[in-house]
Amino acid sequence: MKWSDHDGDVLGAWVAEHDFDRPSEVAAALHRVADLGAWGYCRTDPDVQRAFSVWAAERHGWAVDPSLVTLTVDSIQAVWAATAVLSEPGDGVIITPPVYFPFHLLARDVGREQLDWNLRRDESGRWDLDLDDLRALLARSPNARVLAMCHPHNPTGRVMSAAWLRELVEICADHDVSIVSDEIHADLVYPGTEFTPMLTVPGAAERTIVATSTGKTFAMSGLRCAVAVAGDPAVKQRWDATFGDLLLGRPNRPGMDATIAAWSHGGEWTDGLVAYLDAGRTRLVERLRAEAPAVRFCRPEATYLLWLDVSACGLGEAPAEALLARARVSLSEGSIFGAGGEGHVRLNFGTSHELCDRILDRLVPHLQP
Ligand SMILES: Cc1ncc(COP(=O)(O)O)c(C=O)c1O
Repeated sequence: MKWSDHDGDVLGAWVAEHDFDRPSEVAAALHRVADLGAWGYCRTDPDVQRAFSVWAAERHGWAVDPSLVTLTVDSIQAVWAATAVLSEPGDGVIITPPVYFPFHLLARDVGREQLDWNLRRDESGRWDLDLDDLRALLARSPNARVLAMCHPHNPTGRVMSAAWLRELVEICADHDVSIVSDEIHADLVYPGTEFTPMLTVPGAAERTIVATSTGKTFAMSGLRCAVAVAGDPAVKQRWDATFGDLLLGRPNRPGMDATIAAWSHGGEWTDGLVAYLDAGRTRLVERLRAEAPAVRFCRPEATYLLWLDVSACGLGEAPAEALLARARVSLSEGSIFGAGGEGHVRLNFGTSHELCDRILDRLVPHLQP
């Protein structure tokens, strides 16, 4: 999709997927399934849960009980299903605009009411979620039952601290609000920032479901295998009682085998990926500051996404559309991420440094006042 949705000369810097080769074990797992002709019915493989549990412990110091992990087809399905499990029709679901655009469909799709907890931007261009804003929102929205967190946050690249998360969970507990934490970008956190999995925060277990997959780290979203991690057995039971075994469908054998391979063998590879992306991030930030000072942005703490305020560059109300036409670079339009996205574009730098340079070479002449 990233490279085929546009004409051949357009450089793709939009959909959140990177372009790097994956660990060889992933392709080997797929070849094995193909060579076996094992394309018929298969059992849901408990090794996926076990592999995730080892991955979570090694990379994030997070002890996951494999029996609390449910397989889903993708992370978004896990977020949607978790929201349905943790709330009732008509309840309020809080999202954090500007946010990964499908979140704007979440409440509508599951028959809930959307409540917005907007990020704020300070003088330096840094985006933040103010806990007092959440308190005020909860005071005027007694029906709020779920907070859908994007953690790390897409598109701003913010990673909230352990102390902040602790306070967040206390507020949620005081207001009987459950948490759905989308942690699909959690492996892509840069040195200097610490990622705290929601389910390691004291008090979170009884009210939280985490959704994640290999999708962002290993660019494997097309293989359709993700996990929903319940914080405790009671939450897991609520999930099982809501959906039974059949309603949500199941991942397929190639997806499961490739996922097991990635989480079992991808540690060193992921270290290399993060180091490479970090160097790319530094280079992009330096170039943008030097060559396009009219663009306001903050260095992302996580993700391979740069959230750029290009409102001073005379690109009109649809700057990504204008840049596609003028620079032949495909970016994501900021407005689709909701309030706060006006005048912004999201740039995906999950590609080679050479290609990042070519992308900037094309964009910079159009990012001037
Ligand atoms: C925050 C976030 N959640 C979920 C997804 C989609 O994940 P999946 O394809 O596993 O549903 C993305 C993809 O960009 C994302 O950025």
